[in-house]
Amino acid sequence: MEAILKYFQESQIYINDKLRAFLINDVSLLDMLYESMGYTLYSSGKRIRPIFCFIVGDLFNISRDKLATSACAVEMIHTASLIMDDLPHMDDAQLRRGKQANHLVYGQNVSSLASIGLLARAFEVVLNDPGLSDVKKNKIASRLASVLGTNGLVGGQFVDLKYLNTSMEYSTLHYIHSHKTAALFVASGEIAAIIGNATEKEIQAIKNYAQNLGFAFQILDDILDATGKEAEIGKSVNNDSGNFVTLFGIEKSKKLVQEYTESAIKAIKIFNEKSEKLIILGQMLLKRKV
Ligand code: IPE
Ligand code: IPE
Ligand code: MG
Ligand code: MG
Ligand code: MG
Repeated sequence: MEAILKYFQESQIYINDKLRAFLINDVSLLDMLYESMGYTLYSSGKRIRPIFCFIVGDLFNISRDKLATSACAVEMIHTASLIMDDLPHMDDAQLRRGKQANHLVYGQNVSSLASIGLLARAFEVVLNDPGLSDVKKNKIASRLASVLGTNGLVGGQFVDLKYLNTSMEYSTLHYIHSHKTAALFVASGEIAAIIGNATEKEIQAIKNYAQNLGFAFQILDDILDATGKEAEIGKSVNNDSGNFVTLFGIEKSKKLVQEYTESAIKAIKIFNEKSEKLIILGQMLLKRKV
């Protein structure tokens, strides 16, 4: 267990260093824009999606260096989505990653541009990676584009904003959680598997794991939103208008988190003893308080 905790910490340090290296500004006119991008990007994110990329990479003996641009890209896309999610016309949140939300420091105009800047940089870092073949870069960029767009984050956030309270049905919530959250988990694992030349069967197992894990992750996020304290979780609470907790209550939602995590763990049985880190990741996320 200790070895795995060390692995998580090392991965976080690695990703934080790389993120800084991929966001260097050499145009002084843009200082404030880069400051805004870095303000949320370098703050205390858990880096779960890049860590998941690295763990999947390990299944195929792929080094962190080989995965660095993809892992940074998913973290940049995730961070961009958080900056946007907090804006007044979205969730109107004040606190993010233990600090004032980006727009409260830099203004809505700058933080909107910072979010788009991070999205664009995510694609740039992958497409400029000399360590990846053109075929792989293409596949990765295509996955990132679809996870970002109407079939992923944007679609999920749209339904979250526009339809949730009017049609509070399980199928709507399922759509939202799959698209706004699980999709990026799925893409993170799939991209690492693509780089690792995984077989179709292996890719399916990883996607299945990630879909269930991402789903459990968002239900637990809804539980934390209802039960957590701002000072502990570092972001605005009671901020999500309708979700699993509103539909099912805390106890049933907790049970669902457990069930989806178990389904995730079942999905990666094909990797036998190599699945250990994925199992522990699932168990750790189950117990998370932030
Ligand atoms: C928060 O994600 C948004 C959701 C999709 C639930 P995380 O809980 O991974 O946030 P950070 O990156 O650690 O801040
Ligand atoms: C977030 O859902 C999903 C994103 C794509 C950002 P939430 O609105 O519940 O995320 P938090 O709770 O603000 O982190
Ligand atoms: Mg939201
Ligand atoms: Mg929110
Ligand atoms: Mg939330």
